[in-house]
Amino acid sequence: MCGIFGYVGERVELGSAVLRALKTLEYRGYDSWGVAIGVNGHIGVEKRTGKIAGSTVSFPPSDIGFGHTRWATHGGVTQPNAHPHLDCTGQLAIIHNGIVENFRPLRDELLARGHRFASETDSEVVAHLLEERVAEHDGDLLAALGATFPRLEGLNAIIAFDLRRRELVAAKSVSPLVVGVGSTGTSIASDALALRGHADRVVYLEDHHLVRLRAGGVTLYDRRSMAEIPPDFLPLDVAAGDPDLGAYPHFMAKEMAEQPDVLDRLVSDGEPAIRAFAGAIADSYGTFLVGCGTASYAALSGAYLFSRIAARHLNFVAGSEFKYHEHFLNPESLVVALSQSGETVDVIEAMMAARRHGARLGAIVNVRNSTLDRMVDLRVHLNAGPEQCVLSTKAYTAKVAALLLAAHALKGDYGTGADLVRAAARGMREMLAGDWASRVQEVAETIHRAEHLFVIGRGLAYPTALEAALKIKEVSYIHAEGFAGGELKHGVIALVAPGTPCVVYAPNDETRGDILSGAMELRSRGGYIIGVGPENDPVFDVHLPTPDVGDAAPLVNALPAQMLGYQAALLRGNDPDKPRNLAKSVTVK
Ligand code: AGP
Repeated sequence: MCGIFGYVGERVELGSAVLRALKTLEYRGYDSWGVAIGVNGHIGVEKRTGKIAGSTVSFPPSDIGFGHTRWATHGGVTQPNAHPHLDCTGQLAIIHNGIVENFRPLRDELLARGHRFASETDSEVVAHLLEERVAEHDGDLLAALGATFPRLEGLNAIIAFDLRRRELVAAKSVSPLVVGVGSTGTSIASDALALRGHADRVVYLEDHHLVRLRAGGVTLYDRRSMAEIPPDFLPLDVAAGDPDLGAYPHFMAKEMAEQPDVLDRLVSDGEPAIRAFAGAIADSYGTFLVGCGTASYAALSGAYLFSRIAARHLNFVAGSEFKYHEHFLNPESLVVALSQSGETVDVIEAMMAARRHGARLGAIVNVRNSTLDRMVDLRVHLNAGPEQCVLSTKAYTAKVAALLLAAHALKGDYGTGADLVRAAARGMREMLAGDWASRVQEVAETIHRAEHLFVIGRGLAYPTALEAALKIKEVSYIHAEGFAGGELKHGVIALVAPGTPCVVYAPNDETRGDILSGAMELRSRGGYIIGVGPENDPVFDVHLPTPDVGDAAPLVNALPAQMLGYQAALLRGNDPDKPRNLAKSVTVK
């Protein structure tokens, strides 16, 4: 997944403006970046590997240009492989998000016709294909893109830059693009966040659209008929909350600290949508909760919460596995996607499969007007504010809280759920305010050099253990794995050696006795036991206390793992906001 931004309009300091816009999109990929600006009759290009950080570019003022931040798929992280990519004439440039799955035969065809490639990427074939089509369409790049785009297999978003006609043209399939209009010109990006300061109204492109951006405005076409379509503009609505770092050292620290307010806001503002969501579950014959990564663990938590609170069985499926389960779906099914970004391609594809079976579609999503938000029949907006750290923290706890509230709404006692979530918010404020963070710091200093770390939990704490392990591994690079506490003796415990850190979730619920037995099994093999829960126990080498908040335990139990991962990452010299190899929104398969 990559970040893309383009502008056509009044002459401005466009190089730095594009770089600023790309910086807001770096969460989508930060292996390398590039900027292309129209200057003095040619396309000036600046491309570098690494993050944007304090980089600058020097171009004269310009009225047309675009840029790209890359998460490498085909072709290593090198300067030539960074976007933009130019055609052989140097008069045409493209930037691309997605994977051209049939790029090898296309590249072979183009090489055979004499085209010269400067990169190893799949994306560059688009520039050379357009070069050929433009010649066939009297220099009309939009028509050339209309003819070229259907040849590209996969989920792609393409922006092409035509210096001669001073226009940008674009098309997409599933991979998001949003076009903006403002007082100085028109702009386009993979996320509305990048249009702040450039647009006051936007239109989200659909898969059948082609779009032409000129200084004078936006023209939308149906890619199949080339008929013009009146754009359906919306006000630019980027998530509430401050997208800037403020006094925090990292976005991860800021977003962890925002969790109590996010939970309180969800309880007070989310009730109508959550009640409607619970009603849809009541009306459905079979509900599926679908998500990827952290969102999948929120979904699995939901399956446990609905079982124990509302005696209702919800099916959990990981987004990337959903297509192997879709055979059960029917028009009475309800498929609910959980996603912070609303752009995770595995989730989008799951929802497209659900739609094909006539199922009702729901979402618990943070980014408004995201692809997921716009494709479902009903949704709960998390309103967690922009989540800029690649690791999902506040959106995770907000998803779990929404599911807990929905389970209580289904049971007919929303107020009980609201009280639990508010209690969890209060508890997290206390954890964040006191000397609790320094206790976590001490644990991090003890374990940060470990190669392996295990996390166990039972019942409602099992999905929490999975999420805890993901948080720790993706930011510290320690090989952390989460297990169901009862699975230890079925092979897992072979992994435990003297000194292996083992996080044990021991809430005050029906699992406590058995999970403490598991802790003893780990301890007897030399494991270093980190107990997380309301009460200490002699089997723990160290205890991280959490407030006793009943079924809201997954909310407060998320914080120790988030904080432990964060502190261990800092001790290991990692960037907690942009860990290696990752990106915030996985829009490629
Ligand atoms: C979260 O810490 C991870 N970076 C990742 O697992 C993420 O949760 C997953 O890619 C799903 O993202 P989404 O919520 O935007 O769909």
